[in-house]
Amino acid sequence: MQFYLDTADIKDIKKYSSWGIIDGVTTNPSLIAKEKIKLETRIKEIAEIVDGPISCEVISEDSEGMLTEARKFATWHPNIYIKIPMTAEGLKAVKILNEEGINTNVTLIFSLPQAIMAAKAGATLISPFVGRLDDISFDGMQLIEEIVTAFNNYKFDTKVLVASIRHPRHVNEAALIGADIVTLPPNVFDKLIAHPLSDIGIQKFLEDYKASNQT
Ligand code: G3P
Repeated sequence: MQFYLDTADIKDIKKYSSWGIIDGVTTNPSLIAKEKIKLETRIKEIAEIVDGPISCEVISEDSEGMLTEARKFATWHPNIYIKIPMTAEGLKAVKILNEEGINTNVTLIFSLPQAIMAAKAGATLISPFVGRLDDISFDGMQLIEEIVTAFNNYKFDTKVLVASIRHPRHVNEAALIGADIVTLPPNVFDKLIAHPLSDIGIQKFLEDYKASNQT
């Protein structure tokens, strides 16, 4: 299972990548907007830190515009994956980018048919948004189960990247279903590593050792 960071915050990217278990980074226009820095500058900074796929999203709504943006982003670094929204125009762009050997991540996936269409267009990754489905009382993880099953049935190469993750339980379930990748906001990363019994255990070991007067 691969762990990506879902942020464009360079401090967080440095902090969590230092743990040695980060395989990639996902960004989106909202995350970039928060940073108040030029997209190209930030994406190149991220690529200096993380040696893995870095998703960078287009903002055009027509396939021609998407292709122009995508080809420009792809010159910034070999690890750039072009994030394309799940629309008919997006599918057209993904098909062409796949033929050109440019990796893509089809985003804003909310149903199994959307996932299948993106895979058929040749998406390298797809991003189903589990948290946003849960937010409107649908079952985000059920969608992941359906996509993983269908992709196995048809032997699609497209990898399933679970996005819009809100809490560690989403990661548990994604792992048991067999999703390829989870992209984690920094606050979820902190919750993943924390366990009260780990903290209590460390404290007790240290106290016992000190009490034994070892040199
Ligand atoms: O980057 C895409 C996705 O992870 C966004 O998550 O929390 O805005 O629904 P969220």
